[in-house]
Amino acid sequence: MATQSPTPARPRAPKPSNTGQERIAPINNERISFIGGGNMASAIISGLIKQGMAPRLIDVVEPDEEARARLTAQFGVTTHTSSGPALDASTLLVWAIKPQVFKEAALQARYYTKSALHLSVAAGIHTDSIVRWLGTKQVVRAMPNTPAMVGKGITALYPRSDVAVEDRRRVESVISSTGEHLWVGDEVQLDAVTALSGSGPAYVFYFLETMIQAGSDMGLPREQAQHLAIATFAGAAELARKSDQPPEILRQRVTSKGGTTHAAIASMEQDQMRTLFMRAIHAARLRAKALGDEFGAS
Ligand SMILES: NC(=O)c1ccc[n+]([C@@H]2O[C@H](COP(=O)([O-])OP(=O)(O)OC[C@H]3O[C@@H](n4cnc5c(N)ncnc54)[C@H](OP(=O)(O)O)[C@@H]3O)[C@@H](O)[C@H]2O)c1
Repeated sequence: MATQSPTPARPRAPKPSNTGQERIAPINNERISFIGGGNMASAIISGLIKQGMAPRLIDVVEPDEEARARLTAQFGVTTHTSSGPALDASTLLVWAIKPQVFKEAALQARYYTKSALHLSVAAGIHTDSIVRWLGTKQVVRAMPNTPAMVGKGITALYPRSDVAVEDRRRVESVISSTGEHLWVGDEVQLDAVTALSGSGPAYVFYFLETMIQAGSDMGLPREQAQHLAIATFAGAAELARKSDQPPEILRQRVTSKGGTTHAAIASMEQDQMRTLFMRAIHAARLRAKALGDEFGAS
């Protein structure tokens, strides 16, 4: 452990994103339909219901019978096996399906959803493709992440220029039920967001797995190793969030030369972990781009 004690964190200047503290308009007069009722849809539905939205105002199109039963039991929402006239009354559609099936699902739903605002969370699929498939320009793309399941997600949003400011606010109202959000100015940036925060929770879990295994190998009971690793991640993230210093400085402050942390960081540097990790994140961005090219082209 380092002998140097970290300088106390100072409060940071406000960030240009929603951090859950700002006032977001309540969800009024909205009837929301989800296309796809898997992990991401469930996270958003859970947030909406916690925020006070009535389950009877939520419809979910989900072909899988087991998933439909779970959605009804867990949330009390109405489910459908496929898109149909039931979607006519929707004011907002949330597209929470895999990129591979988006086109087919969109062509099936387009007849019933022309007057709705559309929010897509599908990785890679461009708004150009969505506009072409749905026949409307009222499209916002989002890249959320799975901490949305516990209200701690971070979502990047990108609106088509045709989406009015008040409709962007409607999207914010929905997505803020899952955590924080920010808007990006260029759609291509969503591939980078996908690689960073969309896939990011898996990187954290990967590091946690490794830390837990190392703790266990060094003789700690597994539950204690897990407790220590998770609390360390949560605590370091909170410190980084609250500090006015970048992570690099926070790291240097706890890495005194000749100390234990220094030994660990030097070992990582020698193994070029930073280069390998950067390469992995770039691989995720390339995959996001490839998904859009592959499944959004026609
Ligand atoms: N999970 C994440 O970390 C994350 C993060 C950011 C963005 N996303 C994006 O969010 C989207 C959904 O991801 P997810 O993790 O929620 O996936 P998921 O759990 O697999 O949910 C997708 C659901 O859609 C259903 N489905 C398939 N074809 C359909 C159709 N034609 N109409 C309606 N529903 C259909 C699937 O049923 P079957 O299983 O029977 O096919 C499945 O239940 C993806 O595009 C993903 O890129 C996910």
